[in-house]
Amino acid sequence: MNCFQVIQKRYSARGYRPDPVEEDKIQQVLEAVRLAPTAANRQPFRFIIIHTAGKEAELKRIYNASWFVQAPLVICGCAVPQKAWLRRDGKNYCDVDVTIAMDHLILAATELGLGTCWIAAFDPTAAREVLGLPEGAEPVVFTPLGYANDQPGLKKRKSLDDIVSYERWQ
Ligand SMILES: Cc1cc2nc3c(=O)[nH]c(=O)nc-3n(C[C@H](O)[C@H](O)[C@H](O)COP(=O)(O)O)c2cc1C
Repeated sequence: MNCFQVIQKRYSARGYRPDPVEEDKIQQVLEAVRLAPTAANRQPFRFIIIHTAGKEAELKRIYNASWFVQAPLVICGCAVPQKAWLRRDGKNYCDVDVTIAMDHLILAATELGLGTCWIAAFDPTAAREVLGLPEGAEPVVFTPLGYANDQPGLKKRKSLDDIVSYERWQ
């Protein structure tokens, strides 16, 4: 698959088979995280890989959907705001950095035939407790990682005219 085919193929998988993910595939998606660009190359994040087996109840405290714990792995992208680059007006880019890295992971996973789903509607307090996050670490996004057993729906998207303008906002 080329890059555009991977982008077309990716979808939010909300059903997974319990089959294990091969170790070399796990290492490849993590390498995609490692190679992601970050503002001023600060790499202000830590990605936590969680094996779901035996941790279903704890994980459901974080995000209460049956499919969240169906895959063998769940991955959390955490930001460390104090390590991130700040724009001159103080804007902190850690969430952007984590998001780009997670997108690298998700697209690499798609290329490898794995399913993922961006999850932001989780309980951050439960995530901090279950994952043992230290002060200064911020959970930003989760995804399951495994073999999907559902089917992609139609991609509903705005038209280019609705989201793009040239030269100025209009
Ligand atoms: C930042 C972000 C957060 C999201 N959070 C959730 C979530 O908490 N739960 C969920 O089921 N889907 C979540 N999604 C998935 C979106 O609903 C989905 O990407 C969108 O409807 C488009 O569908 P597609 O991913 O299948 O193309 C999230 C997506 C993004 C990008």
